Amino acid sequence: MGFAEKPAHPNTLASLVSDSLVLLHLLKGQRGDDGDHDDPGGRLERFYAPQAEHYDAFRERLLHGRRKLIGMLAPPPGGRVVELGGGTGRNLDFFGPRMLSLERVEIVDLCPALLRQARARCAKWPDVAFTVQADATTYRPAHQVDCVYFSYSLSMIPDWRAALANALAMLRPGGTLGVVDFHVSPRHGAFTRNFWPRWFAHDGVRLSTEHIPALTDCTAPLHCEERMGSVPYLPGLCAPYYLYVGRKSLA
Ligand SMILES: C[S@@+](CC[C@H](N)C(=O)[O-])C[C@H]1O[C@@H](n2cnc3c(N)ncnc32)[C@H](O)[C@@H]1O
Repeated sequence: MGFAEKPAHPNTLASLVSDSLVLLHLLKGQRGDDGDHDDPGGRLERFYAPQAEHYDAFRERLLHGRRKLIGMLAPPPGGRVVELGGGTGRNLDFFGPRMLSLERVEIVDLCPALLRQARARCAKWPDVAFTVQADATTYRPAHQVDCVYFSYSLSMIPDWRAALANALAMLRPGGTLGVVDFHVSPRHGAFTRNFWPRWFAHDGVRLSTEHIPALTDCTAPLHCEERMGSVPYLPGLCAPYYLYVGRKSLA
């Protein structure tokens, strides 16, 4: 089985058309829809369904650090893994041949359109990878797991503290929690602290100063790194993101 990544779009015209579709929906944003707390799945579906097929190609250049995060997670052979807010399941490819050593990997998401893409991807590992349509704040797998991670989803979950508490509850003692996401920090300059939260809020992404403190409070840090990443079609501007890996206490 080959795990090499295909180029997102071999031809430039196809890539431009695909990017334009995604940009259109990003510019439209979740305006007027962000407060729909009664139907978060419907809100996500309205936002993502029209761009689902083009999601991976565009996010490849926006969601930095995902490969590195997955590389740092070290579920044991026979281990169980959950991605909360897993979208199209793109991160599964970053596990490479390690996928076949795992017992079970679950992609949990509320958005049916993205889960359809994930389901097609999971077919590469029919006995290992599964999709679950559920809320990250409440979903519980049948057994405790060795590793839970969020990849650019914590910032999209309104009650992210509940999602974090839920992740810890499903993690076995000594298990690993991983997060990669946009954020802001008091160490950032005024432009970064003011511009990026407004920019991303338009698409329902809430940049917080509180993710890293909350993560270091609930796990023993193994890795914490803050970086800046380029943003497609915004030349010269970089958005702040972090990578975090922590261990749940054995007690
Ligand atoms: C920016 S996407 C990231 C997708 C994927 N993790 C990746 O790295 O490509 C954020 C994802 O979080 C999902 N999401 C948002 N709120 C959620 C919730 N309450 N429960 C489950 N998934 C949620 C969205 O549907 C979306 O797929």
